[in-house]
Amino acid sequence: MKIGIIGTGRIGSGLAKHWVKAGHTIMFGSREPEKGRAVAAEIGGSTQGGTQEEAAAFGEVVVLATPWNAAEAVARSLSLSGKVVIDCTNDLSPARAETSRGTAQDVAEWAAGAKVVKAFNTVFFQILHAEQTSDERGTVFIVGDDAEAKSKVGGLIRDAGFEPHDAGGLKNAHHIDNLAAFIVELGYGQGQGTNITYKLLRL
Ligand SMILES: NC(=O)c1ccc[n+]([C@@H]2O[C@H](COP(=O)([O-])OP(=O)(O)OC[C@H]3O[C@@H](n4cnc5c(N)ncnc54)[C@H](OP(=O)(O)O)[C@@H]3O)[C@@H](O)[C@H]2O)c1
Repeated sequence: MKIGIIGTGRIGSGLAKHWVKAGHTIMFGSREPEKGRAVAAEIGGSTQGGTQEEAAAFGEVVVLATPWNAAEAVARSLSLSGKVVIDCTNDLSPARAETSRGTAQDVAEWAAGAKVVKAFNTVFFQILHAEQTSDERGTVFIVGDDAEAKSKVGGLIRDAGFEPHDAGGLKNAHHIDNLAAFIVELGYGQGQGTNITYKLLRL
């Protein structure tokens, strides 16, 4: 699958490493295309770099992996209508914790016409970059309003070494936002480390 990744940071590069191994074709979109090309060269395989606009046009799936405070400008500026957009962002501000308006609902409004699926926001980047030491598969919760888009993203979640779990429509995005805030508190606030992740069990 052709995947555009907006943001060449820790999450974008971590996902790309797994997806290239799984046979996907990646284009990084960077504010500095040279940086996009450099990160692509480091990852190797079928990976290239360019502008954010080029990566958005390239991807059948486009990953938003920028800081939250850049997400609105990025989502509004790109042509994302009809694309599946994976929103990995987190807004860890106190104001977000007090509202039931989820980040992915904002992203869906800004990226007009896109099929937004929230995913990977609870996965520490360190896990994506680590050598695999366990056969366990963590759970990546997804929300979105388009079943086909969620199915496509589910496949990419498996390709990244996790198991997808459908948590409903975008109206449930705030629950996944809260899970991210909680695991950040566990990992950093409580000093439990960044090699932890969620796993949902049915008993
Ligand atoms: N870190 C984690 O463990 C983690 C886990 C789950 C979710 N998240 C969320 O995932 C998103 C990315 O996190 P990250 O850790 O990968 O961050 P990061 O390492 O800082 O990378 C973000 C990338 O976004 C681009 N960017 C930065 N500022 C920008 C701006 N003002 N406008 C447009 N693009 C900008 C940059 O790429 P270019 O310089 O190439 O443009 C940068 O490398 C965040 O929303 C974060 O909350 C993070």
